[in-house]
Amino acid sequence: MWRDLAPIGRDAGSGGYRRYAWTAADADCRAWFKDQAESRGLTYEVDRNGNQWAWLGDPEGTDAVVTGSHLDSVPDGGAFDGPLGVVSSFAALDELRSRGVEFTRPLAIGNFGDEEGARFGLACVGSRLAAGRLTVEQAHALRDGDGVPLPHAMEKAGYDPSTIGPDPERLARIGAFVELHVEQGRALDLSGDPVGIASAIWPHGRWRYDFTGEANHAGTTRLVDRRDPMLTYAQTVLAARREAELAGAVATFGKIVVEPNGVNAIASLVRGWLDSRAADQSTLDTVIAGIEQAAREQGERDGVDVRVTRESFTPVVEFAHALRDELGRILGGDGGGIPVLGTGAGHDAGILSASVPTAMLFVRNPTGVSHSPAEHAGEDDCLAGVTALADVLEGLACR
Ligand code: GLV
Ligand code: MN
Ligand code: MN
Repeated sequence: MWRDLAPIGRDAGSGGYRRYAWTAADADCRAWFKDQAESRGLTYEVDRNGNQWAWLGDPEGTDAVVTGSHLDSVPDGGAFDGPLGVVSSFAALDELRSRGVEFTRPLAIGNFGDEEGARFGLACVGSRLAAGRLTVEQAHALRDGDGVPLPHAMEKAGYDPSTIGPDPERLARIGAFVELHVEQGRALDLSGDPVGIASAIWPHGRWRYDFTGEANHAGTTRLVDRRDPMLTYAQTVLAARREAELAGAVATFGKIVVEPNGVNAIASLVRGWLDSRAADQSTLDTVIAGIEQAAREQGERDGVDVRVTRESFTPVVEFAHALRDELGRILGGDGGGIPVLGTGAGHDAGILSASVPTAMLFVRNPTGVSHSPAEHAGEDDCLAGVTALADVLEGLACR
């Protein structure tokens, strides 16, 4: 499976993956998923929001156990964030079949669309739509960097965008969702465990900052006459770092657009996207307010207009305790023994947890690096993840 996936959407220069929603690379990933489903004799379907499903048992049955993850990537992402969960799901099913178990509940593997939000700016679009956490109007208003609306992109990729919307009946048929994911930190490396269970996802969001100044000549405009949004932007990046450090949170400007983007022109506009996350809501509120205030004060000094727009927000997710404890019992016995850890990364499991009892398994990442071509998990740990997922699925869905 890894060999088939490896070349899809890989940039030869960076070695990273560029698998953005509804692009050719995404279509290739989807074709791979369909092929994996059909070659195992599973019932393949695409839901109204473009999420893919592979069913063992009746797709219309109730109390289904669902696993899976996503196949899209961030710009120059690693091989594991997303695909490890999907590949492990198919491998766990193969393992269960070789164990000869009898399934007592329908089982499905899912590939949720546009988890990273790399193209349209909003993460987890497929699961958000299904869970009613993104309205059809909001989805229609999403545009990529070239101004292409989401429905047009879906249509171009051969999907009917008129069907998108909440899918409560489908979610009501799911009794448990378990997502396996590469860890995006070093907790398991430090504890010396190949696999852990998720406790919670930090609240997180994305804010767009528009710093508007005045374009002018870089050689002839006196410094005192400038209204340079790059200055305000730069101070805001430093403020984000300071506020996050003070609060024990994280805050990142990882994407900017500059207009007119000329070497010898003072910028007229700098648009930067802030991603910030914290262990609790009030800490995150404090960080966000501090950054915005610093940006406005600096904007006053620079003669630059500052506009802040919250583009997305996901509240704290506390995974279902009963399911989490059940996973702990299946994997660690009654004495515990398997680490339980929180994460600052977002996941479809977090979105679905409001509608479905949801749990996550993490697989050790020795460097903790993620959202980068250097993201890695060792083969032994990946296999331990498959065994753990198979054990969990057996415990939940088999006799
Ligand atoms: C998704 O990986 C996110 O946490 O942004
Ligand atoms: Mn990710
Ligand atoms: Mn992911």
